[in-house]
Amino acid sequence: MQLAGKNIIVTGGARGIGAVVARAYAAAGARVVALDVLDDEGAAVVAAINARYPGHARYLSCNIADADQVRTVFAQACDWLGGLDVLANIAGVERTAPAEAIGQADWDLIFDVNVRGTLHTNQAAFPYLCEQGGRIINFGSAAGINGMPNAAHYAASKGAVLAWTRTLAQEWAKHRITVNAVAPMMWTPMYDTHRAKMSADELATHDELLSRVIPMGGKLGDAERDLAPFMVFLASDGSGFITGQTLCVDGGTVPTR
Ligand SMILES: NC(=O)c1ccc[n+]([C@@H]2O[C@H](COP(=O)([O-])OP(=O)(O)OC[C@H]3O[C@@H](n4cnc5c(N)ncnc54)[C@H](O)[C@@H]3O)[C@@H](O)[C@H]2O)c1
Repeated sequence: MQLAGKNIIVTGGARGIGAVVARAYAAAGARVVALDVLDDEGAAVVAAINARYPGHARYLSCNIADADQVRTVFAQACDWLGGLDVLANIAGVERTAPAEAIGQADWDLIFDVNVRGTLHTNQAAFPYLCEQGGRIINFGSAAGINGMPNAAHYAASKGAVLAWTRTLAQEWAKHRITVNAVAPMMWTPMYDTHRAKMSADELATHDELLSRVIPMGGKLGDAERDLAPFMVFLASDGSGFITGQTLCVDGGTVPTR
């Protein structure tokens, strides 16, 4: 019960890492509001949490790219929770294309969700977290550090999230708000979509590469086993002297270039 009494908002809570983290937070004693645009999946995640931990979770539909919606939904969420201690901003989108072929629509989608979504949710959380300090955990990516061939727009968006996070940590330390970014490597529906776009040959090359660059096990991690315990720690009082960091939870992945 490391998070007993904590009030937490998780964006992207309908599936993948966000769903795993919402469950882990409730299991650790927190009350959780999960936000997403996949309403059926989000409602199912929350129903499963409440079946085990009655009254601990609520789902609200929220497109984090929409500033007005985010403000309204955060007010509703914090009203239900009775305050806010932690924002885990996990929602994100990925698209792939060679840099020379990236279209305006994909660029806008990636920046609206990954970058503007970070701006909107972090700003919406600020007045609530200000009351007694708290935690913001944004989601970056190794792509934002090393680059990611065939996904320059995604890499650029995650680079922006990391720089925003480092800056916010410095500005909001005076309010006792820590702001960190996690760079995960986990096997999720987003990664399944990524794999589905590869030919058999590409997939074989990809798997062979990962077997060499991920020292811990040679493939992406399992979010429940490899990330959730760390997310619980980051949300807890014990992580209060860690801020402005990019925290790689990636099995020790070695940059390929
Ligand atoms: N899986 C990995 O290895 C990996 C690696 C690097 C970074 N990340 C980052 O981790 C985060 C979670 O990734 P995942 O693998 O669980 O992805 P996922 O696609 O499985 O889940 C992402 C969730 O975000 C939600 N979402 C998308 N757009 C939204 C919007 N506008 N408003 C609200 N919710 C929205 C989706 O509906 C989905 O439920 C993302 O930010 C991703 O970029 C993941």
